[in-house]
Amino acid sequence: MMNKSGGVVEFEPLSLASDGPEQGGHVVVETFPCEEELSPFSMPIIDTRDPKPRVSSRIRRRILHVYLAQAGRVWKNLSPSVRTWSVSRAWGRHLDRLVRLNADRKQYFATFFLRNRAELEMLRRLADRKPHGARFDMTVLACSKGAEVYSMAWAIRSARPDLRLNLHAVDISQEIVDFAARGVYSLSGSDAMASENEEAAKRKGDVSWNTSRDQNASMFERVSSQEIDAMFEVNGNQAAIKPWLRQGITWMCGDAGDPGLVAGIGLQDVVVANRFLCHMEPPGAQSCLRNIARLVKPGGYLFVTGIDLDVRTKVAVEEAWSPVQDLAREIHEGDTSILAGWPLNYWGLEPFDERRPDAQVRYASVFRLGEPAVQSPEPAGSERSGR
Ligand SMILES: C[S@@+](CC[C@H](N)C(=O)[O-])C[C@H]1O[C@@H](n2cnc3c(N)ncnc32)[C@H](O)[C@@H]1O
Repeated sequence: MMNKSGGVVEFEPLSLASDGPEQGGHVVVETFPCEEELSPFSMPIIDTRDPKPRVSSRIRRRILHVYLAQAGRVWKNLSPSVRTWSVSRAWGRHLDRLVRLNADRKQYFATFFLRNRAELEMLRRLADRKPHGARFDMTVLACSKGAEVYSMAWAIRSARPDLRLNLHAVDISQEIVDFAARGVYSLSGSDAMASENEEAAKRKGDVSWNTSRDQNASMFERVSSQEIDAMFEVNGNQAAIKPWLRQGITWMCGDAGDPGLVAGIGLQDVVVANRFLCHMEPPGAQSCLRNIARLVKPGGYLFVTGIDLDVRTKVAVEEAWSPVQDLAREIHEGDTSILAGWPLNYWGLEPFDERRPDAQVRYASVFRLGEPAVQSPEPAGSERSGR
């Protein structure tokens, strides 16, 4: 990061304390005894051109931490309408930059069933373009506990039962893939996490422990009781995915960044890479995203959210992907917990800003790859190039 005079300001890794991206958007801002000494609106500039900096990196880190803690408190007290003011947005972008530059990123297993309804609707529309009885090759990367995979299978199979869905579900963790493949979840809360016997529960592959792993909110919080009846066989406290939704899914342990993935899976009509690239440092996320794109058939579609928007925009522009405008805003705004995390958490999602000249590419979550953008004659979809 450059300071006003062009000197490089370096900070040690730091993040605001938060309870994770999948947990209802609660943000916990740490407090410090000397917070009152700093104005929340003045970011201290530390001149590192001095060959013997007088301020140690520990102090710099602390100052930044205090600034962000204070700023976070002020931000949280702004009303939703004040947050939409240009000056608030600009301040939010400044905080977001600081948070991302200094974040301690880590992966989470947390997820939700029917997490983003607009995303599922987009998938339905794409499936709808397939001829009757056609094969539909799709891969979900970073599938975690399987909620996203089963939700997408449900969306496609409900709309187009005639399609031969060939779905690969991949995660880097073998134990979470094993849990996802079983497709059995606990409907109770997250009491298992508080269990004194957590290690024993983990070893046993305990349903309750795994369901609530990394979650502060239930995996089922976005699902209606009718939808639970449609997707699950409920037995007491446990919900098992119905057999018709399990069909055609191949579960695999694999790394989305592995260049050998395409040889193992083959080219796909749709690839989904959601909500895990933001937990990587930007250079790693960028090369992983480029590798993921190699899985998509020419003319196929890539769903990619939960990634730093600068990283996604850069790769999309450089690779000449066509941002799909159909439902773009709805998808961007379709996951409330991630929107609520901005700007105080690195995984938070910047609000949609139609005034940005690059808005069409920056806020698209679905891209058509490998073929020039087309104006779809179908009402269901209309890709227009954002560039
Ligand atoms: C927050 S969960 C995302 C779950 C799901 N995609 C969703 O949107 O609800 C992140 C998942 O990414 C997986 N993951 C992290 N790095 C990965 C990689 N390089 N390849 C495949 N999976 C990865 C983690 O193991 C974890 O299960």
